[in-house]
Amino acid sequence: MYSKEPIIAPSLLAADFGNLQRDIEMINSSQADWLHIDIMDGHFVPNISYGPAITKVAHKHSTKPLDVHLMIEKPELYIDAFVDAGASWITVHYEACNHLHRTIQQIKDHGIKAGVVVNPHTPVQLLEDILESVDLVLVMSVNPGFGGQKFIYQTILKIKKLRKMIDEINGTALIEVDGGVGLQNAEAIINAGADVLVAGSSVFKSDDPIDTIKKLKSINSHTLIT
Ligand code: DX5
Ligand code: ZN
Repeated sequence: MYSKEPIIAPSLLAADFGNLQRDIEMINSSQADWLHIDIMDGHFVPNISYGPAITKVAHKHSTKPLDVHLMIEKPELYIDAFVDAGASWITVHYEACNHLHRTIQQIKDHGIKAGVVVNPHTPVQLLEDILESVDLVLVMSVNPGFGGQKFIYQTILKIKKLRKMIDEINGTALIEVDGGVGLQNAEAIINAGADVLVAGSSVFKSDDPIDTIKKLKSINSHTLIT
């Protein structure tokens, strides 16, 4: 039995875009570990968010590492731009990459961390041959494109399966979970084996975001190692 505290990554998508600097500074003063940046292109997902220019602004004001989640087609064409914008982590969708292994290497060649993301319909078993090459697997717990959606409960089983796969190869890849995550389900997600919680609405729309982050951070996992 071991216990560990989760990495908390608030998602800037739920911030007040008219007060980005203020909201980023609020995150700076919290116990959050990373700042999650959602990039949407209107093709891979049915919504458009922001791109490298806003990511650069986030990097300028943030004291937390930027965790850039690319929900875009042909992500390999934009890796350099997001590295230049200040990303510490870049994650690309399994469903958007024809040459995933090459794209992961392309990210790592910049000396930053690389992750793969799976949509709710994509089985984690498909990651078997890439697991040793990635620093992180991001499991989507909603269909990507919008903040404020309901957590898909089936994700808990996916996290458990993935935890087992990583442990079986003594892997080091972190498991991150994104979509509908909040105080109501964080414990179940962590106990299933997740390391990183992305939280948008549950942080920014709460009465006291700093306190919500503190509470998320204080949920420890008590996972039985079998
Ligand atoms: C969804 C994004 C998420 C989103 C999470 O497509 O990838 O990162 O910001 O928002 P909440 O926490 O509100 O579901
Ligand atoms: Zn995201």
